Amino acid sequence: MGTLQGKSIIVTGAAGAIGSATAAVLAREGARLMLVDVNGEQLAARAQQIAAMGAEVQAVRADVSRGEEVRSFVEATRRSYGRVDGLFNNAGVEGHIMPTWEYDEAEFDRITRVNVNGVFLGMRHVIPVMLEQGSGAIVNTASIGSERGLAGACTYNASKHAVVGLTRTAAAEAGPKGIRVNCVMPGVIDTPLLESVLAPMFNGDIALGKKTLGRISPLERIGQPVEIGEVVAFLLSDAASFVTGAAWSIDGGALCTIRH
Ligand SMILES: NC(=O)c1ccc[n+]([C@@H]2O[C@H](COP(=O)([O-])OP(=O)(O)OC[C@H]3O[C@@H](n4cnc5c(N)ncnc54)[C@H](O)[C@@H]3O)[C@@H](O)[C@H]2O)c1
Repeated sequence: MGTLQGKSIIVTGAAGAIGSATAAVLAREGARLMLVDVNGEQLAARAQQIAAMGAEVQAVRADVSRGEEVRSFVEATRRSYGRVDGLFNNAGVEGHIMPTWEYDEAEFDRITRVNVNGVFLGMRHVIPVMLEQGSGAIVNTASIGSERGLAGACTYNASKHAVVGLTRTAAAEAGPKGIRVNCVMPGVIDTPLLESVLAPMFNGDIALGKKTLGRISPLERIGQPVEIGEVVAFLLSDAASFVTGAAWSIDGGALCTIRH
């Protein structure tokens, strides 16, 4: 028996690196999954991989920044599985790299709509279902950027601070009703997106880029997507029954010290 046996869990951003790695961990632990992403093609491929593990899985192409689409995939989950036990509210976008005083207003709004409104809307539509059930667990994806400034990424940085605020507020509100709300703060994680950022910075020497960035943490390496997934699975499971309102850094210790 897995730690999430039979639980019905929605994963947003499920076509991406962290979302898909986490979905695989949740499937291994026995969860029934509703995978959501705006990238329908990649989502279908991920869903096939998870189904090949023997898991019960469905996939819906949807935009988390649109309330009507969120309401619809939450309802679809309840229709299919009878309940919604968990939400991994993980879809996110990074945006352009630009100093605050040059940042494009439309880009600021676009990133905010996905990273802030999207996280809000996930909780806005899932929590009423969990209230009816009297139970449920939510994990939102923040970032180590929730605790530090990130030069060049004002909207991403502000949005990830907001995710922690949304998490703590929902935890305070829904705790008395038996619903837990936490967030994870990944550090530098080994994803295709990271490689695309490192390539120009390190003249194509991606391995050197990963090694260099890894030095921000005492473990002296960057993380793997599955290392986020394992913590998310724990937080969504009953083993974390006394954990709510927490912002868990998963960063090899990067936030705990100043490396020099
Ligand atoms: N990779 C890292 O180092 C890192 C570090 C800290 C936090 N994070 C956060 O982790 C989460 C996952 O990031 P990732 O590294 O897997 O990136 P990724 O780009 O591989 O995955 C993000 C996924 O979200 C989807 N998405 C984007 N906008 C959407 C929308 N409006 N509706 C539905 N889906 C949408 C994308 O299509 C993509 O599949 C993000 O919230 C990101 O900010 C990542």
